[in-house]
Amino acid sequence: MLDIRKFSREQILVSPSILAADFCELGKETDEVVAAGAELLHLDVMDGKLVPNISFGVPVISSLRKRSQALFDVHLMIERPLFYAPAFAKAGADHITFHVESADDPDKTIDCIHETGCTAGLSLKPATPAEALFPYLDKLEMVLVMTVEPGFGGQSFMADQVAKIAAFRREIARRNLHCHIEVDGGISEKNVDLVVANGANVLVAGTSVFRHREGMAQGVKVLHDAAKFLDTAL
Ligand code: DX5
Ligand code: ZN
Repeated sequence: MLDIRKFSREQILVSPSILAADFCELGKETDEVVAAGAELLHLDVMDGKLVPNISFGVPVISSLRKRSQALFDVHLMIERPLFYAPAFAKAGADHITFHVESADDPDKTIDCIHETGCTAGLSLKPATPAEALFPYLDKLEMVLVMTVEPGFGGQSFMADQVAKIAAFRREIARRNLHCHIEVDGGISEKNVDLVVANGANVLVAGTSVFRHREGMAQGVKVLHDAAKFLDTAL
């Protein structure tokens, strides 16, 4: 199993969201972004309850697992993550993020994810303050800051979420934790410098990678190039 803890916070990790891929060409397109240097594959699972859309689930992830060596970064936008997490781990997840807005107890859910052998992440919708996640930071390997309302790819980046990224950076540094900060939603060359300068080091991108006008490899490259804006100090 691949482990996100082997990467440092001083490293940019690119996690292309397959939601923007052509699902008829899923194997080929995921091979292409991984060959271009993407360390993670971002797999958005939606149940039509926590978010107003339905995407894909276990069968798609287990098929991809047979084909890809990338670190599988599963983003559960579902109710009952505690119940479903083991099935996603079995399907091939390496890392599982769930939402604090789901009704399940975060502590129990994080413990359950760790028991499967996966690393654990917690995410929050734009209206939820960063402080809602602070009690759990000690046991998380990653926090995921949504920079759009979760549910759909291709939306516009919400610049008002940048302060939340900075709040996590400050708190993680203050408590000297090894917790990655991931951003998700509308990330592209237009805003990657801003999110990285404010503390994000794991970059999810669907549209700007899979639909990049100069090809997917260029979409991955412009995100890695933002490493020059990294500043993990306070
Ligand atoms: C949105 C998903 C995102 C989405 C990102 O709910 O969590 O991962 O696929 O897509 P873009 O990069 O197109 O905003
Ligand atoms: Zn996502």
